[in-house]
Amino acid sequence: MYRIIFLSVFLLIFTGLPVYQVLSGSDKEHAANLWDMMQKDDYRDTWKHYPGKGVLYKGAHPHGAFLTTYVNGPALKGLNAHDKELPYGSILIKENYKPDKTLAAITVMERVKGYNPDAGDWYWVKFSPKGDVMTKDVEMDGKKKTVTLAGKPKGCIGCHTASVAGIKYIMTPYPK
Ligand code: HEC
Repeated sequence: MYRIIFLSVFLLIFTGLPVYQVLSGSDKEHAANLWDMMQKDDYRDTWKHYPGKGVLYKGAHPHGAFLTTYVNGPALKGLNAHDKELPYGSILIKENYKPDKTLAAITVMERVKGYNPDAGDWYWVKFSPKGDVMTKDVEMDGKKKTVTLAGKPKGCIGCHTASVAGIKYIMTPYPK
């Protein structure tokens, strides 16, 4: 253990690069921090819309009848550059609306270096409109289980592997 810490400090000092930009705290704590940051940042007013999409565009299954998607600076840069994988630090916030245009949930993806190398290093979370982490009841091996939708939910990852946009784990088509 000490050897790992020593090596990390060594690499940090001599290369100037953090070895891992790990999540602070648990997946749920990270969700709370992320929600605070989103509110402080006033993302609705200060972030850009996903390229080619406006407010309340028609959505596909499973997210909502209408969607509004916001991207931060790194994500926008990657999308505009047609990167095959968005840069670390990218955050995409998607508001999911019911057919009557009331907000049902907010799903967020954040790319964090070293967080989950097996699945593109994305952190996933589904918030209620008030900012609580949502859960989902699933059946596994005949047993009912409640999954917390923060961190590495199998459902999010499994579907987004399709990478429909031509960018790893990104599903929303955008102008070429
Ligand atoms: C059954 C497939 C499926 C599942 C499960 C799923 N998504 Fe998605 N997701 C999509 C599709 C399709 C889109 C594009 C939405 C559209 O334009 O209608 C999308 C878009 C998104 C976006 C906007 C960025 C992008 O990739 O286009 C975010 C953020 C997102 N999903 C988060 C989540 C989170 C968090 C979960 C798990 C709680 C999740 N998704 C589960 C299919 C899925």
